[in-house]
Amino acid sequence: MTAKRGPTPRPGILDIAPYVPGTSALPGAGKVIKLSSNETPLGPSPRAVEAYLEQAAHLSRYPDGSAKGLREALAARYGLDAARIVAGAGSDELLNLLAAAYLGPGDEAIYSEHGFLVYKIAILAHGATPVVAPETDLTADVDAILARVTDATRMVFIANPNNPTGTYLPFDEVKRLHAGLPDDVILVLDAAYAEYVRANDYEAGIELVATTQNTVMTRTFSKIYGLAALRLGWAYCPAPVADTLNRIRGPFNVTGPSIAAGVAALADDKHMQEAVEHNTAWRDSMAASLERIGLTVTPSAASFLLVHFPDGKSARDADKFLHERRIILRRVEEYGFPDALRMTIGTEKENQAVLEALTEFMGEAR
Ligand SMILES: Cc1ncc(COP(=O)(O)O)c(C=O)c1O
Repeated sequence: MTAKRGPTPRPGILDIAPYVPGTSALPGAGKVIKLSSNETPLGPSPRAVEAYLEQAAHLSRYPDGSAKGLREALAARYGLDAARIVAGAGSDELLNLLAAAYLGPGDEAIYSEHGFLVYKIAILAHGATPVVAPETDLTADVDAILARVTDATRMVFIANPNNPTGTYLPFDEVKRLHAGLPDDVILVLDAAYAEYVRANDYEAGIELVATTQNTVMTRTFSKIYGLAALRLGWAYCPAPVADTLNRIRGPFNVTGPSIAAGVAALADDKHMQEAVEHNTAWRDSMAASLERIGLTVTPSAASFLLVHFPDGKSARDADKFLHERRIILRRVEEYGFPDALRMTIGTEKENQAVLEALTEFMGEAR
């Protein structure tokens, strides 16, 4: 009798390095300042919380499997066709559903050098081959991506703005990228941070999805809407892509409380605008302050800053120093930045605490 081996995953699955979320707790007692996961410092709209709580009376009922109320609210808010919106358990689920539907062994999918790590996982999980395109100035490089398109390419993932760099591609560049792709390659525009962008040359993806057959835009309620715990995202798709995703998603893939909270959050534009204003003001002033103490900050269009440490000052030491002061930023080695930390813009108090601690760190033994 041969030795028992037990179940074996499909080839390639065990080559996947699991996604490591930002640290959320430290040993010992006391509050932590957690700026490691790009969560909004303003929290969700009180109206979203209220709508969520109301759902407690209906927990024995299945939710609306097509999330119609949410899709219609999104369609009204952005002027979209509700039939082409697919809701998901976070945009992560939608990225994985796209990979499940369109990628398999022998296929290639491209993402950029410092692109969001979920793309690589989704590609590998479905047996396809990840292809990495180098960036220029820590920004996706359209020519480098187009140079890597082959007959096997099926998908291109772009986070716009990108996590963890915070850099973005102007709409002209996104259009140029799309124009260079064959019709059977899907361009996935992951616009998780779209609401934060204050740049006239930016477009999240709605226009390209509306006018092309092969662009998909993904969005999330986890960031500016402050509903990360509920896991709610959506994709705007060409009709055949929406139809495809609807065939393979779980029949009740988003929960009733999530749908209710999402609809209420969308209706509270004032709360969202306050979050944008807070972010813009602090993103710019924190970047300037951090530069003044000798750090280099990548210009960011999003809700976080990629902070680079100079020679002689390691990100690892800074991280330890911050932990001792109960502050958690995000290590970004696995994104190709061993000498940087990513800081989510926090409340005024949190930002000041980070600045004080890093000023002390940079002043030490300089
Ligand atoms: C670029 C990007 N896309 C997608 C996501 C996933 O968001 P969600 O919570 O909607 O799954 C994140 C979260 O960090 C992100 O940074």
